[in-house]
Amino acid sequence: DSEDADYLISLVRSIPDFPKAGILFRDFMPVLADARGLKLLIDALIAALPVAADEFDVVAGLEARGFLIGPALAARLGKGFLAVRKAGKLPPETVSEEYTLEYGKAAVEVETTAIKSGDRVLIVDDLIATGGTAKAAADLIERCQGTVAGFSFVMELSGLEGVENLSQYPCSALMIMP
Ligand code: PRP
Ligand code: HPA
Repeated sequence: DSEDADYLISLVRSIPDFPKAGILFRDFMPVLADARGLKLLIDALIAALPVAADEFDVVAGLEARGFLIGPALAARLGKGFLAVRKAGKLPPETVSEEYTLEYGKAAVEVETTAIKSGDRVLIVDDLIATGGTAKAAADLIERCQGTVAGFSFVMELSGLEGVENLSQYPCSALMIMP
């Protein structure tokens, strides 16, 4: 209900000028630290799933904060969890997908055998900003012959067109932050 939604939003910490000047950093760690907040968060993600639970086989979380919500969500739904890692963390053989950051490039990786052909994957993360990380993860999963069923985010930063960059996929976000 709206009291629960207000409570969840009240737990998000906003830090001006982090990690650099002009950025208002949205930190969801206090939601996880709070017993009522954590339960509400997982309940809300399940209530807001962008597709029905029988339309995906596995939950994939994006390093690092997607790792904090993906396994809890997957366990509640009776699904497995797949960690999509930042480049250089996994032993070979891996498949990687580069994406562009404000300055330079980064890449996400999974082990070559992590995704079976036809696996339907729900991708989760704490936050979508530009959508670059999320799009790279989707491209990676598709390159491994998986299907992206949709995306579940806790927060969406408005004005960055992140979700617009994922317009071919069902997406949900619990909170839209200016
Ligand atoms: C943050 C956030 C998302 C991504 C969103 O992670 O948790 O994964 O950035 O940004 P985008 O939509 O513009 O791609 P970050 O890169 O800070 O990595 P971390 O969780 O490993 O600290
Ligand atoms: N919070 C967490 N991760 C982020 C943010 C933010 O405000 N912006 C880009 N990645």
